[in-house]
Amino acid sequence: MASRKRVFDLLRTVNQAACKCPGHGHRGNVQVSNATPIPSTAFEIKHSTVRYGLGVTQEVGYDLVNLGAKSVCVMTDPNVVKLSPMKAVLEALTKAGVNYKVYDNVQVEPTETSFKDAIKFAQENDFDSFVAVGGGSTMDTCKVANLLSCYPGSELMDFVNAPVGKAKQIDKVLKPMIAIPTTSGTGSETTGVSIFDCESIKAKTGIAGGALRPLLAIIDPLHTLTVPQTVANYAGFDIFCHALESFTAIPYTKREPFPTPAARSQAYQGSNPISDVWARFCLQTIHKYFARAVYNADDVDARSGMHLAATMAGVGIGNAGVHLCHGLAYPIAARGKKFIPKDYGKKPMIPHGLSVVVTAPAVFRFTAVSDPDKHLEAANLLGANTTGVKQADAGKLLADTILKYMDMMKIENGLKALGFSGEDIPNLVKGALPQQRLLKIAPLPQSEEDLSMILDESMTVF
Ligand SMILES: NC(=O)c1ccc[n+]([C@@H]2O[C@H](COP(=O)([O-])OP(=O)(O)OC[C@H]3O[C@@H](n4cnc5c(N)ncnc54)[C@H](O)[C@@H]3O)[C@@H](O)[C@H]2O)c1
Ligand SMILES: [Fe+2]
Repeated sequence: MASRKRVFDLLRTVNQAACKCPGHGHRGNVQVSNATPIPSTAFEIKHSTVRYGLGVTQEVGYDLVNLGAKSVCVMTDPNVVKLSPMKAVLEALTKAGVNYKVYDNVQVEPTETSFKDAIKFAQENDFDSFVAVGGGSTMDTCKVANLLSCYPGSELMDFVNAPVGKAKQIDKVLKPMIAIPTTSGTGSETTGVSIFDCESIKAKTGIAGGALRPLLAIIDPLHTLTVPQTVANYAGFDIFCHALESFTAIPYTKREPFPTPAARSQAYQGSNPISDVWARFCLQTIHKYFARAVYNADDVDARSGMHLAATMAGVGIGNAGVHLCHGLAYPIAARGKKFIPKDYGKKPMIPHGLSVVVTAPAVFRFTAVSDPDKHLEAANLLGANTTGVKQADAGKLLADTILKYMDMMKIENGLKALGFSGEDIPNLVKGALPQQRLLKIAPLPQSEEDLSMILDESMTVF
């Protein structure tokens, strides 16, 4: 390996030999100093292979044959099992002669208990590969079923994020998993994250590790055509917050302490030039298609656009991360047991997208001071006129823009409408504090008082 001195000498030679004309002068313009270099900052972008197109689900049988799969676990929820996406998957497997078994007991908004049931199914059968057909609930359940089938002697809590679990590193390559999302929201098809409602701490938490990431994401917009209006609406706000939070996350260069290479590959890294590209695409797509996709189930262009945006935002969050809306959403969802949303079954629950967007106006009013220009750019990408707007008004403009979307999509009027009162704030803050994985990705540090203020402002939003 070349010594550092030889590398510097070479750079200096390249610098001197470089063309100095205005058109090419930058080429070799490397600043070289003999001083000890500062620790380098780095980011990396990881995601699953993504295949996108109307009807691509019919290829899944061939994918499994190519993988040499002999025994496939197909996971879904009790509703999606009856719908056209599952029919398309099973037809493709049968046509390709693939041997499979279906687990259709995934719980929407999974819990520790429901995860354990799916894990038991996976451990009792000798599967060599997994296919998840459904929304984030199904994909996240399938990820942990795959994980624990590869670690038969371990417990779910061994891998769950600290301080709730033991945060054991996943040190094996898991079995191949193919994710076929049927909602346009979570982006779980490209992330190494699995989230569940941890009943014992009354907050959501999860497992994060690159090994959980599906091998292939099949993004087939045909599956979105059966999605009911309410699910398209709430899941759409999940994309909305993924894009806004990863775009406004702390820049990766400003993380302190800067993650070690090992930590970088496991954790959220902060905003970076590549995740910003995904986030900008998503915000523009939301401006163009969100309302059309929610209110017109047969608008194939709009539903296809939102389906791609969900995956793109997933790549953004999977690498840059999400921060305060999600950190606060975890206790909101886990403690919100009075609200029964339409189209999600009969149980009281707060769908994930609703739990994240409800604090978004207050969150971005709070974070705007960290980078007013980026907050203004986000508002502009969502359709706001930013001409002549002062930096000091960036938070207000972005919050007002978010509120316009919430109003247009008839989102409930704040935490009170979801069954909370001011008395719940201390417990919600207490539930958010363990979410350090997310809170430290915010562009500003926050005190408990800051979190209380955001929750208080979110009690009534209109
Ligand atoms: N792993 C990640 O990176 C990540 C990111 C964000 C959210 N999540 C998690 O994902 C979960 C939410 O997932 P979601 O919003 O995709 O919804 P979901 O999987 O919970 O499904 C919501 C409802 O939509 C129905 N449904 C799904 N597809 C349908 C279709 N094509 N037609 C008709 N109905 C359909 C389901 O049966 C269910 O009733 C939460 O638990 C959340 O915490 C995970
Ligand atoms: Fe989310």
